[in-house]
Amino acid sequence: MKSKIITIENINDAALSDLETAAAFIKAGGTVVFPTETVYGLGGDAFNPLAIKKIFEAKGRPDDNPLIVHIASLDAVGPLVAAIPEKAERLMKAFWPGPLTIVMEKAVTIPAVVTGGLNTVGVRFPDHPIAQAFIKMAGCPIAAPSANRSGRPSPTQGKHVLEDLDGRVDGIILSSDTELGLESTVIDMTVEPPMVLRPGDVTLAELREVLGQVAVSTNVTQNVVPEKIASPGMKYTHYSPKGDLVVVKGTSEEICEKITRALSHYKGNPMTIGVLASDETMGCYREGLIISLGSRNDPREMSKNLFSRLRTFDELGVEKIYAEDIPLDNETLALINRLYKAAGYTFI
Ligand code: TXA
Ligand code: MG
Repeated sequence: MKSKIITIENINDAALSDLETAAAFIKAGGTVVFPTETVYGLGGDAFNPLAIKKIFEAKGRPDDNPLIVHIASLDAVGPLVAAIPEKAERLMKAFWPGPLTIVMEKAVTIPAVVTGGLNTVGVRFPDHPIAQAFIKMAGCPIAAPSANRSGRPSPTQGKHVLEDLDGRVDGIILSSDTELGLESTVIDMTVEPPMVLRPGDVTLAELREVLGQVAVSTNVTQNVVPEKIASPGMKYTHYSPKGDLVVVKGTSEEICEKITRALSHYKGNPMTIGVLASDETMGCYREGLIISLGSRNDPREMSKNLFSRLRTFDELGVEKIYAEDIPLDNETLALINRLYKAAGYTFI
């Protein structure tokens, strides 16, 4: 299959005509990659089971993992769900359009393939002008997972999308790098108290301000408190770079010492060892391929950079990556969640 590549920076007349082309693929039951404020998504008509099947095939995704349904106006929620809980309405008002996916009981009309057989559906209204225009033109809600091959870091730049999906989808809309860089916060509104299933740019503190009590799935808390992982040997393959990634724990000094020691013991080409450091700490290292995730004082910058940095190590042929651990707080929970998953919860 040849993918039609469409490049759009701003919405103008030429862009609108290009978006019509992309929307036509969706109307015909095809698949199109589009930018959002979090990561690029791989979209298809949420009401067309054949389109959904193509999404799973293009990604190589296990079919029990549900897709998020994207909309571009508040009145598009109604037909997707059995009912809108009052608290969910509060979230929509506070955070939409934006990086928040709200899980609600699904309408019977949504095909089971979209929700992995669950009777709930995750809905998101992205805050991105191209995503919004594209969804409106397609004239249907768009089911879309992140536009990476399953197991790879989510794509935050056009070139990541091309690496993973060129030739596997009908259309690809390329635009600027995505603004946030980590996928949306996912919150389950079918339970009481509501439960965060995946942390993201909308933080726990922000959610609690609107909802009061909010629980966090043990999938997330176990991530950040690795001692609590039920089966520590379990090797996850989410977000993984090709190189072997390990997270290094301890105080700043201990981390620097541990990595320096590991580098000095390495007998091969030092440029095949990578260190994922920060602006503040990268000066500690003398060998290896040292890359900064950004400033420790700017968690959003670090979040924006994580997936692209992991792909950079791949491009440079790095075989072993030492990532400095990141101090946990309200703003770094999502970043730590993705980093630990990418490392398959391996720590030194
Ligand atoms: O920012 C994002 O959310 C991006 C952009 C493209 O919108 N999309 C994204 O989709 O990250 P995906 O498929 O890579 O991740 C969706 C996550 C998965 O962890 C999935 O299990 C969860 O949301 N999810 C979706 N529907 C759900 C449901 N009904 N119940 C529980 N979890 C759900
Ligand atoms: Mg994904």
